[in-house]
This record gives sequence, structure tokens and C-alpha cells, in this order.
Amino acid sequence: MSFKYRIVSVSLAAVALTTLTSHGQGPPKAKVAPKLEPIAETRLLMEGLAHANFRGLERNLLKNPIDDQSWVFARGQALLIAETANLLMLRPPKSQGQAEWFDHAMSMRNQAVQLAQRLATKDVEQAKFGMSQLANSCNRCHQTFRVPVDIVPFPAPDAPPVRKV
Ligand code: HEC
Repeated sequence: MSFKYRIVSVSLAAVALTTLTSHGQGPPKAKVAPKLEPIAETRLLMEGLAHANFRGLERNLLKNPIDDQSWVFARGQALLIAETANLLMLRPPKSQGQAEWFDHAMSMRNQAVQLAQRLATKDVEQAKFGMSQLANSCNRCHQTFRVPVDIVPFPAPDAPPVRKV
């Protein structure tokens, strides 16, 4: 056994000992429970995280050929979109529609995770299919909450802006 491994096993033994001896010694110390709070406006998350990464993904997937670094970047962008969905879950509408909000945010997260998995295989067609599935999940939430924003993946250069009004 190398020196390094011996240190690890010694410290594991120490942990086990601490766990054993702390058992039954009064109430456990209060666990740190971080309180998650929304800080930025939803609109800022849409612009700065969801849409920025969506656009970045499009740019990476329109490269020809797509080099390895662009695939890695694109996968990271999909994961950041998935993470944005987690942030959206901290910001449901106050009065009504909370269940729908959570459903849509969850579906956005699932689609973004699936997209990341597709990007890991470096298959362009699969990736583009994943982009349209993700855009559908964006638009379903926009439609439910009457947000006049239509996300169209890989728009033609002369396509109208995403916000319809
Ligand atoms: C859970 C619901 C929900 C999901 C999912 C969602 N959005 Fe949004 N989005 C909103 C709401 C609500 C607004 C309006 C925010 C505002 O103006 O206050 C909005 C607005 C936007 C806007 C307009 C921002 C502006 O400056 O006016 C863009 C762009 C946008 N979303 C992109 C996306 C993209 C891209 C996705 C998917 C990757 C997505 N959204 C998924 C709820 C959602």
C-alpha cells in the first residue's frame, strides 16, 4: 500500500470513530440549510442565460465542420440551459399557474439534458432534432403564460425577431 492510500485509510478510520463517538450525544448540530432566493428578473435569465446559450448553440452547430472544441462548448451550453431551468423553478408566478410553470421548467430541463447527451455523440442531425425539441419546450411555456416570444431554431437570416409584439 502506498503512503497516500495509508493516509486515506487512517482518515477514514478517524471519520468512522467520530461518527461512532458522536452518536447519542445530545441533539445533532443544526445542518446548514441554504435558502434559495431568486435575485434576477425572469426576463434577465431568458436573455442572458436561456437565449444567449441557445443562440450560442446554434452558432456552434452551424459550423462546418464542427470541430471538437465546438462540440464541447455546445454541450456546455446545453447544460447551462438545463441549469437555467433549475433557476426558473425558484420563480414561479405568484398568483396562479405554478404547477404549469414547474411542468414547463422541468420539460425544458429534460430537453436540455437530452440535447447535451446528443451533443456528446457529435451527431449533427440528432443535435438539430434536440434543438427543435428544446425550442418546443421554451415555446410551450411562453404560450401558456402568453409571452409573445417564439423560439425558432436556426432561423433564416431575414426571419422576424423572436418577440412578436
Ligand atoms: C417556465 C416557463 C418558461 C420557459 C420554460 C422558458 N421561458 Fe422564456 N420567458 C418566460 C417568461 C415568463 C418570459 C417573459 C419575461 C418578462 O418579460 O418578464 C419569457 C421571455 C423570454 C424571452 C424574451 C426576453 C425579453 O427580453 O423580452 C426570450 C428571448 C426567452 N424567453 C427565451 C427562452 C428560451 C430560449 C427558452 C428555452 C431554452 C425559454 N425562454 C424557456 C418563461 C419561460
